[in-house]
Amino acid sequence: MATYVVTGGAGFIGSNFIFHMRQQHPEDRIICLDSLTYAGNLETLDSVMRDSHFRFVKASITDREAVFRLFDEERPDYVVNFAAESHVDRSIESPGVFLQTNIIGTQTLLDACRHSGVKRFHQVSTDEVYGDLPLDRPDLMFTEETPIHTSSPYSASKAAADLLVQAYHRTFQVPATISRCSNNYGPYHFPEKLIPLMIINALHDKPLPVYGKGENVRDWLYVTDHCRAIDLILQSGRVGEVYNIGGHNEMRNIDIVRLIVKTLGKSEDLITYVTDRKGHDMRYAIDPTKINRELGWSPEVMFADGIQRTIDWYLTHQDWWRNIVNGEYQTYYQQMYGSR
Ligand code: NAD
Ligand code: TYD
Repeated sequence: MATYVVTGGAGFIGSNFIFHMRQQHPEDRIICLDSLTYAGNLETLDSVMRDSHFRFVKASITDREAVFRLFDEERPDYVVNFAAESHVDRSIESPGVFLQTNIIGTQTLLDACRHSGVKRFHQVSTDEVYGDLPLDRPDLMFTEETPIHTSSPYSASKAAADLLVQAYHRTFQVPATISRCSNNYGPYHFPEKLIPLMIINALHDKPLPVYGKGENVRDWLYVTDHCRAIDLILQSGRVGEVYNIGGHNEMRNIDIVRLIVKTLGKSEDLITYVTDRKGHDMRYAIDPTKINRELGWSPEVMFADGIQRTIDWYLTHQDWWRNIVNGEYQTYYQQMYGSR
């Protein structure tokens, strides 16, 4: 029986990872460490809350005392760090908290790993650390050797964390791995992100705000495929290594929005082009050769199926997102889109 500390487990990918682990490794124990920022939601974890193999601890990964106390109590074998400020648009408005959580928080966890000794520290990073690719070079993709070259305060903070993880591995022999995944979609995705925002706005017949010309390309992966990849890296990945995760599913934003509109039977007249994001990355594309070759991973959920499942989930879980969009999200939305 192994003990896992999963940080950020009340958010989108972390919660899906907890569900995956409870199903795949029912004998293991999971401790979710989450400070419940605007993006963390305890309701998401309802189904595991009373599970004897699960414990929830509300604390920030930047709180050294709380993190060290938890590590002393639980002596985790594995630490998987999902906790982060994750939204690029918010990082453009207020970079400070991104540096605190994403960099200092990661360092705090690494120090706690040194202190208590772990089998593995896994850093959940992002393809955004590689910067972007031009639209007219479809042959180019990010490999693990692509230089770090960031665009937003969000991606810069994630890149800084990756460098710290590598430094702690080399200098202090912390047994660490890093994964860099492309854009995820699926259940429990916070409504500020492209796909849930467009689904929810379309359901309300509200304008669908597409940044710039909508030509930016993202490489979309269904969230459970990401969770499976992290599980594989924890079990069989090589310490000190970076693994890119992606499923060769590049799509333009405007095509995603049109697909959502069509699936929901709404009018394309809802689509509204708005002022572009500052420093907006043009294209992300992951080369997943390494994880496929070394760990035999490849995606199981194709986009046509995944987007249908996602739309169905938002249709059948309206209480989950209505609680969010009726709260402080209103103020955020007004600030971000009110006069865009
Ligand atoms: P999210 O914003 O949905 O969830 C983040 C979670 O972290 C929330 O539960 C929040 O309460 C928690 N958190 C924030 N600050 C914290 C702190 N100081 N201490 C403890 N908990 C804190 O994010 P997500 O989309 O699930 O992303 C999870 C991770 O995956 C992030 O590290 C992100 O960089 C990375 N990632 C995301 C994507 C994507 O498409 N969403 C793609 C690749 C990588
Ligand atoms: P997002 O979901 O914020 O993820 P990321 O910025 O990490 O890729 O955005 C995905 C793409 O959608 C990105 O190119 C920005 C664009 N976008 C819009 O056009 N309108 C929106 O309202 C949002 C939130 C994003």
